[in-house]
Amino acid sequence: MTDETLHVALILDGNGRWARMRGLQRSDGHLQAQTAVKSVVDAALECNVTHLTLFAFSTENWSRSAEEVALLMQPERWLMTPQQVTHYRDHKVHVTFLGDREDIRLPARCTRWIRSVEEETSQLHPRLRLSVAFNYGGRQEITEAIRRAHLTSGGAGSEHAFQEHLWSRGLPDIDLCVRTSGEHRLSNFMLWSMWYAELIFTKTLWPDYRGSDLVQALDEFRQRNRRWGTAPSSAHPANS
Ligand code: IPE
Ligand code: IPE
Ligand code: MG
Repeated sequence: MTDETLHVALILDGNGRWARMRGLQRSDGHLQAQTAVKSVVDAALECNVTHLTLFAFSTENWSRSAEEVALLMQPERWLMTPQQVTHYRDHKVHVTFLGDREDIRLPARCTRWIRSVEEETSQLHPRLRLSVAFNYGGRQEITEAIRRAHLTSGGAGSEHAFQEHLWSRGLPDIDLCVRTSGEHRLSNFMLWSMWYAELIFTKTLWPDYRGSDLVQALDEFRQRNRRWGTAPSSAHPANS
């Protein structure tokens, strides 16, 4: 991996609407998600994205029906199949998971699967670090980091020290976040790392999203003027 990082985050939204539009069950929409996931991971590899983070299950998603949650707790069925995990390993994609792993609502089978995917894809020099936010909440991540910081002697006296207590420690700040399905909100996703992220919202529903859409989003991202709080340059149209 080079020193230069490019961190893209994707909010996978619209599985339910994709199914409803076809007269199918919500579960059918979730089961289509993996095709889109594989396509964007392959495109991320092509485009030299170094970090890709996918929002797959939020801490608020537990409020869905027991039947839907039961399917979502089987990510090997709807998010990445065993064949895809092997494909990622072979293409130097290191998959890790972000979120509350201690939650007793997580089935033991699911936490075992999470650990096995992390182990299978673990490698010294990955081309891409794929993080899956699963049982993830941005507020919970920050609250948990505060609790951990209090427990350690080092504390969290600086932003840098504080970041070390986040679930997302070691990940660079998010450069670009894309949300599918036409919703314009973050829904508690990566509130800390998103601070200066460029945002793109697309109406495409997640099961229809493909690597070519990510390539297009990256083109749009490269046209953006990331000012980081500075005043516009004299070349900026607003100044002329
Ligand atoms: C996103 O699709 C998948 C998860 C949240 C797990 P949704 O299930 O939210 O689909 P919509 O928003 O109801 O269409
Ligand atoms: C955001 O989607 C969470 C994930 C994609 C995992 P939701 O469908 O849960 O978000 P809201 O409820 O529309 O804000
Ligand atoms: Mg949704």
